[in-house]
Amino acid sequence: MSEKTVYESLRESGLSRRDFMKFCGLLSGWMGLEFLPGVKALAATPEQVAEALMAKPRVPLIWLELQDCAGCTEAISRSQSPSLVNLVLNSISVDYQETLMAAAGFQAEASMRATMEKFKGRYVLVVEGSLSTAADGVYCAIAGRSGPDILREAAASAAAVIATGNCAAFGGLPKAAPNPTGALGVGDFIKDKPIVNIPGCPAIPEVTTGTIAHFLVMGTLPKTDRLKRPLTFYGHTIHDHCLRRPFYDAGKFAESFGGHGAREGECLYKLGCKGPTTYNACSSLKWEKGLSFPVQSGHPCLGCSEPNFWDGGGFYQAQSAPIDRPTAAAFGLAAGVGAALGAAMAGANGLAKRKAGKTEPAEPKKAAE
Ligand code: SF4
Ligand code: F3S
Repeated sequence: MSEKTVYESLRESGLSRRDFMKFCGLLSGWMGLEFLPGVKALAATPEQVAEALMAKPRVPLIWLELQDCAGCTEAISRSQSPSLVNLVLNSISVDYQETLMAAAGFQAEASMRATMEKFKGRYVLVVEGSLSTAADGVYCAIAGRSGPDILREAAASAAAVIATGNCAAFGGLPKAAPNPTGALGVGDFIKDKPIVNIPGCPAIPEVTTGTIAHFLVMGTLPKTDRLKRPLTFYGHTIHDHCLRRPFYDAGKFAESFGGHGAREGECLYKLGCKGPTTYNACSSLKWEKGLSFPVQSGHPCLGCSEPNFWDGGGFYQAQSAPIDRPTAAAFGLAAGVGAALGAAMAGANGLAKRKAGKTEPAEPKKAAE
């Protein structure tokens, strides 16, 4: 019996033809999210997406968890954008996922082995967590086998490897000094396979599924930057699209957490924000169905999608003096948008307690622990 196509599987799961076309339109928009020169050319039209999904079989997926906290799995399983994330996940066949699968023990290992044999050269390997290499990998062993052993075998027959989260991409927290387990990112160990990194702590669910969707439709991994991050999602810094940016440009910086300036939308650079040097999609895609992201909620960006971010200096210290370039125009812009941004941020976080007609903000609350 021939394998079911993505389209057939989706239809069987109750998706109408109309919803399928809508899904293809969303995927196409998602893939063309970025507008960098040379990147948009990779995007497909909804018709091309539909054509591909009607012809292609479902992509089997093996998801390994090595030295991790399962945060990326948590983020994806609790994603607030079910229409897209779930549909992408329905379009693939997740044959092995330690946290989510019902099987355990020998049964689980047998399922992984069966997928590796049946779909040799065709499955996608997603890795979450860093690889422990010290003491022959004894710090992270699964089913009696070391992480390097498992990863080497699973990657050997994979069509492509997706390293999701900072740990899998760059080593993450386990690699922080003094790195007792000899932690490495997947790309430091697997050198002979197409690899894409989806760093973040955790990775944004839509970015992981968007990358899987790209493979599903195009049969290849997306175009990446020098750190192997998809340009579609990592082509800009947090700073580029930050809604506190007018204040940075105007030289207006919050001096304390929860204070008047931070609540009114002032820039968090002096409180340690790494947004200017951090490439990720948080300030454009945001989290929780586009509701917010750390900087909007009043916390500086920690740079969680960059290598060695745990060791890169204090989380709450400015890395250098901000570029001092206030201009009258920028200041005017900041003043103009300030009230609106401040209200939007306060409203989004349930902090706005202003009385109708009053322009003064409420007294700052005591900072939560
Ligand atoms: Fe840039 Fe951070 Fe300031 Fe936003 S809060 S403008 S990302 S430095
Ligand atoms: Fe990470 Fe900064 Fe986004 S800390 S979650 S890259 S805003």
